Amino acid sequence: MRFSTVPVLLGLAGPACASALARRQAGSLQSCPGYEASNVKDEGAKLTADLSLAGEACNAYGEDLTSLKLEVEYQTENRLHVKIYDADEQVYQVPESVFPRPGSDDCEAEESALAFQWMEKPFSFRVVRKSTNETLFDTSAASLVFESQYLRLRTSLPDAPHLYGLGEHTDPFQLNTTNYTRTMWNRDAYGVPGGTNLYGHHPIYFDHRGSSGTHGVFLLSSNGMDIKIDNTDGQFLEYNTLGGVLDFYFIAGPTPKDVAVQYSEIVGKPAMQPYWGFGFHQCRYGYQDVYAVAEVVANYSAAGIPLETMWTDIDYMELRRVFTLDPERFPLEKVRELVNYLHEHQQHYVVMVDPATWRGDYEAYNEGVSRDIFSKLPNGTIYVGAVWPGPTVFPDWFHPSTQGYWDDQFLKFFDADTGVDIDALWIDMNEAANFCPYPCADPDAFANKSGNPPKPPPVRNNSGRPIPGFPGDFQPPPTSQRLLVRQENGTDNWLGLPGRDLINPEYKIQNAAGSISNLTAPADILNYDGTHQYDTHNLYGSMMSIASRQALLARRPERRPLVITRSTYAGAGSHVGKWLGDNLSTWHHYKNSISGILQFASIFQVPMVGADVCGFGDNTTATLCSRWAWLGAFYPFFRNHNGFDSIAQEFYLWPEVIEASKNAIDTRYRLIDYIYTALHKQSETGLPLLNPLFFHYPEDLNTAPIDLQFFFGDDLLVSPVTEENSTDVSIYLPKDTFYDFFTHEKVEGAGSFVNLTGVAFTTMPLHIRGGSIIPLRAESANTTTEVRKKDFVLLVAVNATNQASGALYLDEGDAVEQPETSMINFSYDNGKLSVEGTFGYKTDLVIKSVTVLGANANSTGGGYQTEESAASKSFDGPISLSEASSHTL
Ligand code: NOJ
Repeated sequence: MRFSTVPVLLGLAGPACASALARRQAGSLQSCPGYEASNVKDEGAKLTADLSLAGEACNAYGEDLTSLKLEVEYQTENRLHVKIYDADEQVYQVPESVFPRPGSDDCEAEESALAFQWMEKPFSFRVVRKSTNETLFDTSAASLVFESQYLRLRTSLPDAPHLYGLGEHTDPFQLNTTNYTRTMWNRDAYGVPGGTNLYGHHPIYFDHRGSSGTHGVFLLSSNGMDIKIDNTDGQFLEYNTLGGVLDFYFIAGPTPKDVAVQYSEIVGKPAMQPYWGFGFHQCRYGYQDVYAVAEVVANYSAAGIPLETMWTDIDYMELRRVFTLDPERFPLEKVRELVNYLHEHQQHYVVMVDPATWRGDYEAYNEGVSRDIFSKLPNGTIYVGAVWPGPTVFPDWFHPSTQGYWDDQFLKFFDADTGVDIDALWIDMNEAANFCPYPCADPDAFANKSGNPPKPPPVRNNSGRPIPGFPGDFQPPPTSQRLLVRQENGTDNWLGLPGRDLINPEYKIQNAAGSISNLTAPADILNYDGTHQYDTHNLYGSMMSIASRQALLARRPERRPLVITRSTYAGAGSHVGKWLGDNLSTWHHYKNSISGILQFASIFQVPMVGADVCGFGDNTTATLCSRWAWLGAFYPFFRNHNGFDSIAQEFYLWPEVIEASKNAIDTRYRLIDYIYTALHKQSETGLPLLNPLFFHYPEDLNTAPIDLQFFFGDDLLVSPVTEENSTDVSIYLPKDTFYDFFTHEKVEGAGSFVNLTGVAFTTMPLHIRGGSIIPLRAESANTTTEVRKKDFVLLVAVNATNQASGALYLDEGDAVEQPETSMINFSYDNGKLSVEGTFGYKTDLVIKSVTVLGANANSTGGGYQTEESAASKSFDGPISLSEASSHTL
């Protein structure tokens, strides 16, 4: 086989005919002829060619397109854009309004770290890393198939590659490479242990090749797809999509962190979040009324566990109808009292909003109908499915009036003076989820799914008595007089391109929900802009996210919107945060959450991410919840959330969890500025706030599969205990210097696993990486508002050359525009500490003391030392945070 980097062997005439489709006669994939390149124009920074079907159409799963176009652009030194699309430009492409395209520096080919090489017939291409001459992507292994409803492109890979990404999934962080299919079609899922498609669509993978470098491949497509990774026919990765175009971005790295940064240049830098968003959040599905919510607030306070935010699930709604309050269980006056109470105590309140709107005579529906913003079937009727309230309709985010409608609903319902004064927003069921199986002939058969069966509320422990801390009239009626779940009529029977076949495409992706229209808005829904759900389904959750962020901004333009969504598309992190959906209270899901948060924070650029702490479905245990309180304290988004049918799991319910969670929250709160600084860095540069081990030690391939440990920020190695009832954990320590965060003991990592024993349920192994300076608040507090009033201390953890560095970003914490910020850089070199940077943020707070770990210490050699092995030196400040200074310690 010969590959060309210059247009040789061409001289072929352009395609005689640019008609869209070949005549349909179904054939097998094996007979697909591929394409032939002609009319190649190589302009240095760009290359274009025509691709015409190289033989008789195979029409394997649709009709072969006869004429394609190839566009290759060296966009930056590290980014190559390769796009193959239909000559007639009729095939769906993700609109710029949803996914703005990255700009191009128009690099000359010679300036690029990557080379594009192609083969004329059958057409195939390779992407090569020039510095090593290594092939990163090679499509010659199978012919290119580009049909009306099926595209196939296969790349060969080296044996046993280290691949990451292609989410959303609950599989190991390092992807399987044999007989593995990653299906991408957003769906509502519950308690999935692994192996299926989930809520989000992120077609990016990182291919990590140790010392020869790491690169990334992003396919900009929203279509449903199966990505097959196997080694049966040589090692390969194969895209099988239901449509769209082949719009690839190859990013050269060469380090994993470089790939992360380069990917952020494509999908956008993540949004900055409010400081308080890093506080501890409590939530559950099934707080039966506003009193139950208030009791939880009071119980946290009584137990002395810091609580930043209370969340309310769909329970607050009247009959589960969005933008309503249940007048008996969540009367407006009481909800407002609760919110005022929270705000007076520097706490926050968040509620859920779903896209599915009850189809019935009420304001949100009537207004949507009058503005004509609900999704419609091709015959022009509004599509009716069924979600929590029974029959429901779904906003069409492509409609130009939908944003105004959404803004107005928010302005009214969440009005600070007259409505529910929320501080942030939780959006759910936005895949979009639909309980009514396709074709949903009778959505009315789905009554209000209010919760089933009714049962005594699990959270109550002072029924009928005044709630401590709340005014005397904030008193729940006796349980017997309270509606567990408000029911309607006393019932609780809730069980209950042109010519394409949008409903039954011949290629079936392995959607765990069955057909692509099942349990979602059907694929033939015609969006306002003329596109169909068939092509846009995977954008729905992100479009709702963008609209919801805008609606929060319309309501409070000055405050950073915190929106937590379930469904995401590539780039969602620029707008929202994400929680990982419905996990279970199992050790498997506890462990697996680490893979989930790493995927989103470090690969997909959605840093504000967390899993339901203590688990959503099934019943948790005190030991699981203790361990999870600690792990959750190192998720960027830290929320205990629980399912309707599970036993209660607020941290205060078990003495050992009280102790564990207090310790964990105190540690997190003391580190809150450290992680806030890391988020700021990611929002400016794309460098992730969480790091898998291989991001720091790419040449150490032992780190490649590790997904039970991670770095919180750049420098804190988190190593949770992962086995049930165990107090032992085997942790990997790369060849580097580490210090125990709590005891300050020095540990020289030897690039091997080390067994830690006797790890109590009230703590978690945490190590500081040598060479780092960690800014900590001197003390924790009950709320982040109080934490912000505390002075700082520095932990200087020196490396082998007795040096260290770190940073602290300071701002006001909540405003969109921050006129006054400080970016303070600390560096330590053999006894000398320098404080430099910018000091715009005015503060009287100081660094009270500096502790140098490892000062004068002798290296302890390999392995984990349990004896005191490091000297530490303390220096008493104060050091100003308002000006540069230097200090001899
Ligand atoms: C599904 C969400 O994943 C879960 O967190 C929520 O509690 C339920 N919907 C009810 O709203």
